[in-house]
Amino acid sequence: MHNVRKVVDDLYWVGASEKRIALFENIHPLENGVSYNAYVLLDEKTVLFDTADWTVGRQFLENVDYVLNGRPLDYVVINHMEPDHAASIEEIILRHPDVKVVSTEKAFMMMHQFNFPVNDNFVQVKAGDSMSFGKHNVVFVDAPMVHWPEAMVTFDTTNGVLFSADAFGSFKSLDGARFADEVDFKNDWLDEARRYYTNIVGKYGPQVMELLKKAGTIDIKVICPLHGPIWRQDLGWIIDKYVHWATYQPEEKGVLVVYASMYGNTEAAAHILAAKLVEKGMTNIKMYDVSKTHMSYLISEVFKYSHLALLSCTYNLGIFPPMEDFLRDMQRLNLQKRVCAVVENGSWAPQAGSKMIEMLQDMKQMTVLNEQVSVLSSVNKMTESELDDLAESIIESMGQEYKY
Ligand code: FEO
Repeated sequence: MHNVRKVVDDLYWVGASEKRIALFENIHPLENGVSYNAYVLLDEKTVLFDTADWTVGRQFLENVDYVLNGRPLDYVVINHMEPDHAASIEEIILRHPDVKVVSTEKAFMMMHQFNFPVNDNFVQVKAGDSMSFGKHNVVFVDAPMVHWPEAMVTFDTTNGVLFSADAFGSFKSLDGARFADEVDFKNDWLDEARRYYTNIVGKYGPQVMELLKKAGTIDIKVICPLHGPIWRQDLGWIIDKYVHWATYQPEEKGVLVVYASMYGNTEAAAHILAAKLVEKGMTNIKMYDVSKTHMSYLISEVFKYSHLALLSCTYNLGIFPPMEDFLRDMQRLNLQKRVCAVVENGSWAPQAGSKMIEMLQDMKQMTVLNEQVSVLSSVNKMTESELDDLAESIIESMGQEYKY
């Protein structure tokens, strides 16, 4: 049975949501599912913008058939070739053998690599090219590395709709809604939108900024992403979030406390530090046990907050492995511009602190506070006082010295 929604005149959402998949890209947990969006334009020509993951293939195909209502499909525009969107191309071509596939040179190369049966019926486009489907004219804008190198976005100059590919997407199934103004995005979606962006595209901030610059020159009225809700209101609000994430500017002044603790003593140090911060007036604090939190959530949080406190026990004369993984992931995703506090613990040769600092200093524009604390097994009077100094230093650094 079909499940479609009109977006604007002539344009229909034909995607699908699901909650069965446990891991996105087989790595990031999906506690609340995900949507795969695709869109059909009914003009003199019929146009499908992207396809859907094969896991929702049947629903997607029923939706396309329903909207086409017997008309042949003339074009399928592929903005992004990752299989969560492109996996159903083959079935679309089999059902509509005369359909013309429209995409970039790199995308066609990938279609061949993935063994999709694209024959001579294709239109290769590049940045700045345009096409007319009747009343609707579109222009293609390249978007390399947002999130793969072949990616592009398509702008309908007739109605101001931007088909934004992975940009402005989010984890979570749509649960009946289709538009961001139909959900409480700030409270129910923002964390998942950030977790999606930072883990999937976070490494490519400069490329995202390039795309945002290009987008700034066109009059966008509606943003149709490939995941998550469609934006037809408050476009400036979500674009501002993207500018923060893409330029690695924190969204909020606050402290993310992440600790690695084997027997609870480093955890106790984390609680003492957090309590001192709250006593001194900083209440915007989030605390996580690195061993019990999936990396994708920590990455999302570290993109959000201005300050990062890392507390790690020493393990095999190095950083506790899950903490090292977190630092490595921050490096991989190009995280920058945070103020960091470091606390180590060790019972005979504490080493985690200097090694965490090395890793932080390998990232761009990271400030490591001078007040470091080295706990010997458990916090004593002296290290409790040093934690107090560290909390004071964090609070001081929230002032004029670091501007967000
Ligand atoms: Fe949702 Fe890069 O694919």
